[in-house]
Amino acid sequence: GKGEYDHYMKKEIHEQPTSLAQAIEGRIDPENGRIALADFGPGTFADVSSVQFVACGTSYHAALYGSLSLNQAGVHSTALLANEYSVAAPPVDDETLVVAVTQSGETADTLSALRQARANGAYTVTVTNVVGSTAAREADDALFIRAGPEIGVAATKTFSSQAVMLTLLGQRIAADRRGKPPADLESLLPDLAAMPDEIERVLESSDAASIADRYRGSRSYFFIGRGLGYPVALEGALKFKEITYEHAEGFASGELKHGPLALVTSETPVFAVFTGDEDEKTLKNAEEAQTRGAPLIAVCPDDHPAVEIADAHLEIPDTSAALAGLLANVQLQLVSYHAANFLDRPIDKPRNLAKSVTVE
Ligand code: F6R
Repeated sequence: GKGEYDHYMKKEIHEQPTSLAQAIEGRIDPENGRIALADFGPGTFADVSSVQFVACGTSYHAALYGSLSLNQAGVHSTALLANEYSVAAPPVDDETLVVAVTQSGETADTLSALRQARANGAYTVTVTNVVGSTAAREADDALFIRAGPEIGVAATKTFSSQAVMLTLLGQRIAADRRGKPPADLESLLPDLAAMPDEIERVLESSDAASIADRYRGSRSYFFIGRGLGYPVALEGALKFKEITYEHAEGFASGELKHGPLALVTSETPVFAVFTGDEDEKTLKNAEEAQTRGAPLIAVCPDDHPAVEIADAHLEIPDTSAALAGLLANVQLQLVSYHAANFLDRPIDKPRNLAKSVTVE
């Protein structure tokens, strides 16, 4: 049941310290600076020359997060919408790894892409929450995120666990290909181990409710981010539109000036996510929106330069750039939750949506 919580969504947002701890349990070894992903045999990914991630919706945002982080680790990768895969899939061969990211393991679009990739000779892995799901049975290998059941239609805790598992998988792929761990792994692992506590801090001290209240009744809500902040901006906007029924849009920060800035007014609050990926550029982009009257809500650590100019601040603890977006995402989940709650929306069952989409 929902226990002390009014909604499953809120319960599941608050479960993230636990669900993330479960995801990484036994899979990292910070003392020895190693990933211990026993889900795969030694050297499994040594021959992988490129990686394609396929997924839909929130899982696609996690996939994009994983793909960008893999590119940052020097491995060629792309994230593709599973529902576009059948019409324009990039070629695959036996050195291509195709990773199907699906919470339920039953999304028809994602299963089609997985089957197509497998039929064409790719090595396939699914990153899923459900043991025994179709994706887990059909992929060559499965990596389980161990988030526990997610009842709210809006995906929350499964997103953070997917993103973390994809980050780990990416580091493992990079290590297998090089025969040694990536250089930045040593600083990443302790930060990863600290994530459950950091998320707890965000949950305990968040100003999301007052910010959702302050910007209630706006015309549209924009979310911007760069690098790993970009998928987080997309996810912030998807969650917002899904449960509030208000218009929201996520953009790569640098894209604002290439068109969307025309929409910006004093009635379009801009949530800017700062993850340490060229933040000074994102800050300039955000200021351009603010100059046009948009309220600027900075999602960043307390000592960040964005705090000086922002109209409001959602604080996240300092951590690795590889993980900061996940703390920012928790703040944005809370903003959406509170905005929907003020509007009295049926948060756990938004209109027109189903938890598992089994048709193409
Ligand atoms: C949004 C949401 C959907 C799912 C999408 C894929 O909150 O839940 O966008 O992420 O339908 O579902 P799975 O991950 O089960 O393949």
